[in-house]
Amino acid sequence: MSEVLISPSILSADFAELGEEIRRIDVAGADMIHVDVMDGHFVPNLTFGPPVIEKLRPHTDKPFDVHLMIAPVDPYIGDFAKAGANILTVHPEAGPHLHRTLQAIRAAGMKPGVALNPGTPADIIDPVIEDIDLVLVMSVNPGFGGQSFIESQLRKIEILRKKIDETGRDIILEVDGGLNPKTAPRAISAGVTAIVAGSAVFRGGPSAYAANISALRAPTTI
Ligand code: DX5
Ligand code: ZN
Repeated sequence: MSEVLISPSILSADFAELGEEIRRIDVAGADMIHVDVMDGHFVPNLTFGPPVIEKLRPHTDKPFDVHLMIAPVDPYIGDFAKAGANILTVHPEAGPHLHRTLQAIRAAGMKPGVALNPGTPADIIDPVIEDIDLVLVMSVNPGFGGQSFIESQLRKIEILRKKIDETGRDIILEVDGGLNPKTAPRAISAGVTAIVAGSAVFRGGPSAYAANISALRAPTTI
């Protein structure tokens, strides 16, 4: 099995020096950069949008794995493409026409992803599984970093692993929320191929980033 991808969430970075923080996690071994966009309406927190992402783009060549926690999504798809997003992941609850949104993301030149809240069933991806490149399992309720991993999501990851394998397509299965060196191996065993981590990557300051990222890749079989 190939090594799991690590996508550090810049929600836990120092916002006053985001460009530098991105260069640090790039050098420390990040495979993607997880960018949490929140609107204070779909989730009870606010972060940033396309203008900030555009300014961050020159700081790394790694893919921007952009997680939208906003509603509506459709009016902003073009702006995220222009800003340099590579993967654009949306929550089905954000709008009434999930399939249309995913098509628009693809048409804008990005990879479409679907994010499932802890209370959202795996089956919601069935009608769109051929149209997506990533499934994001939320193992916390979205909005904030530093929350505890919700155990019940491991079963959902196993269900999604089977669904993805049945397609024969190369769909990233990513998990987000409460991942650390204890919970990550369990999510990997359940079938994820990518791990998002905010607090577990940025804790301890820049000198700890490389070790923090390596600790999340720890082998699952002993
Ligand atoms: C939460 C965000 C996550 C968050 C994860 O809504 O989607 O990406 O940054 O933070 P940790 O890893 O600290 O749980
Ligand atoms: Zn996220």
